Amino acid sequence: MKRVFSGVKPTGHLTLGNYLGAMRRWSAVDQHEADALFCIVDLHALTVDHDPGRVRRLSRQAATLLLATGLDPKLCTVFAQSHVDEHARLSYLLECVATDGEMRRMIQYKEKAAAERARGGSVRLSLLTYPVLMAADILAYGTDEVPVGDDQAQHVELTRDLAVRFNQRHGHTFVVPRATLPEVATRVMNLQEPTSKMGKSDDVGPGIVYLLDEPEVIRKKVMRAVTDSGRDVSYDREARPGVSNLLEILAACGSGNPEALAGVYESYGSLKKDTAEAVVELLRPVQQRHKELCADPAYVEGVLREGAEKAREMARPRVDAAYRAIGLLPAM
Ligand code: TYM
Repeated sequence: MKRVFSGVKPTGHLTLGNYLGAMRRWSAVDQHEADALFCIVDLHALTVDHDPGRVRRLSRQAATLLLATGLDPKLCTVFAQSHVDEHARLSYLLECVATDGEMRRMIQYKEKAAAERARGGSVRLSLLTYPVLMAADILAYGTDEVPVGDDQAQHVELTRDLAVRFNQRHGHTFVVPRATLPEVATRVMNLQEPTSKMGKSDDVGPGIVYLLDEPEVIRKKVMRAVTDSGRDVSYDREARPGVSNLLEILAACGSGNPEALAGVYESYGSLKKDTAEAVVELLRPVQQRHKELCADPAYVEGVLREGAEKAREMARPRVDAAYRAIGLLPAM
């Protein structure tokens, strides 16, 4: 059975982008078709200015939401990255295979470092090495597929490069994984700034639909989405980013494709109305289940505890093998 690994970073409340770009597939497809692991990547949340209490709260919330989307601990493994030491252990070895130049070329590093500097802050070293830790997450488990949105594709490419390089230098140790992207909504855009990604840690709140937004809030955000000049509804991501984003969201919520849907609508208003309702209906069962799970925090904790035990057992042999292969003395 193929192995699937993916993760979500608790740096903000989870968004419609996270759901359509990645999480929905994890519960609908991956947990049924693969030996799948899904991880709250809390160590990654420490790479930018953070508040400890907030990271803890967001980590719990992310775990609860993952279960609310339908992840079933009988079918897959759900755990927190910091509970499994193998991630950090392997990350260091991969730092000895990766280069400084590779890290500096990563688009997310460039964007996040520039934003941090613009705020007058300093850039944490862990922001630069972020993709190596991500590679460790993936490679520790012999992962075949990594279901992610488009923004993570470059990191998965780097992971492939590191796996190949390690295998060539030190003998076959790692499976070379590949990214699997959704057909539509691979990059959901901010409703107020449709040329930027809908990111959970961004400042443009009214353009971000959060998974736990009340239906009325979702309706308001979608109805106020920025659309393009002109009036006809057509699908063209370059020329008409606002309308195209709505068409993609609507297509992703149901079936059909954005081009075909464009032909159905004569006005922006009706497109927005249907998109808003589709999002509300898509999130309704997730929100309902989230409410139920919040009443049972012990269950969520138990899932994370058992998940970490399973994950440790899966990761340890391969990480130990990498330690031997790279030239370190075996532990007694
Ligand atoms: P994160 O937490 O930013 O996002 C989680 C997942 O959601 C996808 N995503 C989107 N997809 C479409 N449109 C959007 N606007 C959008 N925003 C986010 C992301 O592509 C991702 O799949 N570095 C990763 C976390 C990570 C990871 C890993 C992922 C750490 N280790 C190992 C896979 C495997 C991240 O920051 O995702």
